[in-house]
Amino acid sequence: MYTRGFLTPNLIATDQAKMAREDTKFAKRFRRLERRTLSFGLGLIIGCLLVSMTYVVMFKADVNYFFSISNEEERVAADVDKSLNTASDVEPPRKPLCDLSYSFRTDVCDIEGDIRIHGKHSSTVMLLSPSGSGGETNESWQVKPQPRKWDANAMHNVRTVYVHRSRHHNAPQCTVTHTVPGVVFSDSGKTGNIFHDFADVLLPLFETTRRLNGQVQFLLANNRTWWVYKYRHIIQKLSSYPLIDYDHDDRVHCFNHVIVGLKSDRDLMIDASRSANGVSIMDYVEFLREAYSLPRDRPWPAGEFPGKRPRLLFIARRRTRRFVNLDKVVAVAEEVGFEVVATEPKFMRISEFASTINSCDVMVGVHGAGMTNLMFLPTNAIVIQVVPLAKMDRIAKTYGEPAGGMKLRYLQYDISEEESTLIDLYPRDHRVFRDPDSIHKEGWFNMGEVYLKQQNVKLDVKRFRPVLEKALQLLKEKKTE
Ligand SMILES: *[C@@H]1O[C@H](CO)[C@@H](O)[C@H](O)[C@H]1NC(C)=O
Ligand SMILES: *[C@@H]1O[C@H](CO)[C@@H](O)[C@H](O)[C@H]1NC(C)=O
Repeated sequence: MYTRGFLTPNLIATDQAKMAREDTKFAKRFRRLERRTLSFGLGLIIGCLLVSMTYVVMFKADVNYFFSISNEEERVAADVDKSLNTASDVEPPRKPLCDLSYSFRTDVCDIEGDIRIHGKHSSTVMLLSPSGSGGETNESWQVKPQPRKWDANAMHNVRTVYVHRSRHHNAPQCTVTHTVPGVVFSDSGKTGNIFHDFADVLLPLFETTRRLNGQVQFLLANNRTWWVYKYRHIIQKLSSYPLIDYDHDDRVHCFNHVIVGLKSDRDLMIDASRSANGVSIMDYVEFLREAYSLPRDRPWPAGEFPGKRPRLLFIARRRTRRFVNLDKVVAVAEEVGFEVVATEPKFMRISEFASTINSCDVMVGVHGAGMTNLMFLPTNAIVIQVVPLAKMDRIAKTYGEPAGGMKLRYLQYDISEEESTLIDLYPRDHRVFRDPDSIHKEGWFNMGEVYLKQQNVKLDVKRFRPVLEKALQLLKEKKTE
């Protein structure tokens, strides 16, 4: 289910053609019924009804149909049709609407058919089973439409969507009928931190919907107004339709294809082998360049513009994991041969910041959400991640691996004890230095308190300089793709 392909606009057209054919079939059945009515008269119809009522009782079908003449007529017509057209009416085996099996990250429901969505109050996505088909029992699923399933703290404030199959007679009437697929997702969870904004929502949203070329209707649960405004460039490029406020919209929205939840493989990465949607992480990088009008797709071309230096950006963090001696480090980077930019991301001005990043050839930052901005760099640019104490290798991969995936050249600088401001807070024989495993074992919160919150970085410029030189050297090497 998870790996199923998408409806491309082409397939949607095929689907609509199929529906049109079904409609014609129905019309024919009714016309046939009419002819029978004329030629055999009312008595025969009553006879037919009696026969088919017996049929219904024998096969223990839903009792409601006894009282619905039109359904009986449909059934009679269908039976007539069956005798003419045998094999094609056999119902295919049911598959579950939702795939909850990907335990770590995401629950996704990819549903096709007659679908009705009512967000306000009931938060339901209902697939109507055709009357008379199987499905005497209800099947239902609960899904939180954000791919961070393993993280209870994040999922706590993500709205639950109730997905179920239902019989026709339970169905609410459509207020709005959509011809494009609908996608229900939430912008809540841990958003507000650029890493989570992209890893938990925007990249999964891209992976799930890019192939639809804007022909998709988003239904947004939780609605953090700032988020919608901040990421409008991306949202508007993925969908040509205004967002629907899933939580407050009291209309019944009808679709014939809906996806609840977002597909996602790994943080800030698309696993091309899993991604049935045929989009790659480089498609995403190019998409971002278009969304933010970023001009550069390759870094400083060595020697092409004499006198023009490559640009190196320090991402300055303000509160935790700061560079405490940034002035000194900037001076050294200039000595090595860079034009240096030191800047701090501005929360709402992502477009402006993306342009700044894209204008640079090397990005340097201490491990943290700000590193997420590496996605705006030109291809083959260089990322230097400064990794604080202690035993942070696995955590550093959060950015190291995506940097590689996005065809950036990645250098890692693991600081020494002398470069950590923790030496001002703890004696050197403290387990913070001597036994970091014991602190990691205490869980993310305690580990974070010490290594992510209390720690700043005071780079030893002698030790760091060779890394800057290496970056310059890499830029000078002609990189052929
Ligand atoms: C099926 O679900 C509907 C709507 O949720 C409910 O009214 C009905 O009682 C359920 N039927 C069974 C057999 O559980
Ligand atoms: C989100 O909430 C704001 C403020 O209530 C509202 O103006 C906006 O229409 C909502 N948008 C969506 C997509 O839910």
